[in-house]
Amino acid sequence: MVGRLIIRGDAESTQDLAREMALQGAPAGTAVMALNQTRGRGRMGRSWISPPGKNLALSLLLRPTLLPRDAPLLGLLASIAVAETVEDAGVPEARLRWPNDVLVSDKKIAGILSEASMDDRSVEFVIVGVGLNVNAQESDFPADLPTPATSVLMCTGRESDLEQTARRLLGHMDRLYEKLNREGSGFVPPLWESRWAHCGVRLTHKKVTGVGHGIGSDGALLLKTDQGRIERITSGEVLPAESTRT
Ligand code: BTN
Repeated sequence: MVGRLIIRGDAESTQDLAREMALQGAPAGTAVMALNQTRGRGRMGRSWISPPGKNLALSLLLRPTLLPRDAPLLGLLASIAVAETVEDAGVPEARLRWPNDVLVSDKKIAGILSEASMDDRSVEFVIVGVGLNVNAQESDFPADLPTPATSVLMCTGRESDLEQTARRLLGHMDRLYEKLNREGSGFVPPLWESRWAHCGVRLTHKKVTGVGHGIGSDGALLLKTDQGRIERITSGEVLPAESTRT
């Protein structure tokens, strides 16, 4: 059951706090948020910078009974939970970019970093880290971000309470995670695809280009190439083919 929330003032990275808690035997469903995260980590070795006291930096410890290859589904679930949370706050239409980015009008409102401790056969724990831009303003973001950023405040004109936002997010995550445990993962791809920003869009990943076709049962991105082949993408970054982003 997702729900126990620990609130810290300063922390380097909530991912590290949650990992320490996991190693000390904290129960599944424990979440930790920091009001001032000073060395946040993003995907692909990037850093995640957030102005003190304005945004949500939260890491959730899960101990799923999933096969290791299905662990990425948790990041997808978390992105759906974040999309629902920001829409509760009045943000119109939150869309998803594979694997876990949450976008509003093509601007990034949240990113998710999933870190797992697992071997070939089983998953010991997964830490799902959510960076959600809540009360940041345009001037709080660096000018050179790979994707332009937005926040709940910038979308709605209203400030939100960070703890309340965290609790709402955990509520959505709890419902989705319980459903996963009860019914299995079949519902995740169609639910994620219903918010997919790039359905049917030409996308590129390293040397593969194809049209966004869907999500596999393990969370892999499926691209349909010009030759009609389905390519499974399991890691890295996938961008619109015409994008100039590097
Ligand atoms: C990304 O889009 O690159 C993922 C960003 C994830 C940032 C969050 S903030 C809470 C948690 N602690 C971290 O150090 N990173 C994640």
